[in-house]
Amino acid sequence: MNNIKIITSTTREGRKGIAVANWITELAKQTDKYNIELLDLAEIRLPFMDEPNHPRIQKYQHEHTKKWSETISAADAFIIVLAEYNFGFPAPIKNAIDYLYNEWMQKPVAFVSYGGVSGGLRSTQMLKQVVTAVHMMPVVDQVNIPFFANLIDEHGTFVPGETITKSAVAMLTELERWSDVLKLLRKER
Ligand SMILES: Cc1cc2nc3c(=O)[nH]c(=O)nc-3n(C[C@H](O)[C@H](O)[C@H](O)COP(=O)(O)O)c2cc1C
Repeated sequence: MNNIKIITSTTREGRKGIAVANWITELAKQTDKYNIELLDLAEIRLPFMDEPNHPRIQKYQHEHTKKWSETISAADAFIIVLAEYNFGFPAPIKNAIDYLYNEWMQKPVAFVSYGGVSGGLRSTQMLKQVVTAVHMMPVVDQVNIPFFANLIDEHGTFVPGETITKSAVAMLTELERWSDVLKLLRKER
């Protein structure tokens, strides 16, 4: 079974994206195909990248980096639950990526993006460019959720319609395929 880590992108008080993260986590767990873990950057609380060396050499000085490295090393694939701030990606997710290098390498990443009219599309396009710098492989199938706040009920639960759920199932299937293939590639290294 592949280990899929689902990573939030926002950490602010009162953020709404956690509802989307909880939804995709539960949906992925329902398939029984993956080991799923939700990594909430608001709980992990990485400071602004403070390592003295380039992550490529893995000479980490700080406990928070060593722990983050261990967590990401254990992953076979990622789903980033991505907000859009000022037409781009929120800083916490970029910071979390910048901490490491080899740990992300040759692993697939899918995006579940949310926002207003754009559904986080601009943010996704920007982050796709970043993830390729650490040799992650962005999968084409993605989930974009425009006006997502309208789909959060009075209990704070994200309740999407059929179209969004279908796109999430397609994304999970594609992510699983890439996970299998890239696992083999990493073994050869
Ligand atoms: C600083 C900031 C910038 C934002 N910029 C955008 C934007 O460019 N595009 C968009 O669709 N929504 C934008 N929004 C609205 C967000 O989609 C909405 O607030 C969403 O809840 C943010 O995710 P979060 O609640 O997980 O932080 C912005 C929100 C904030 C706080």
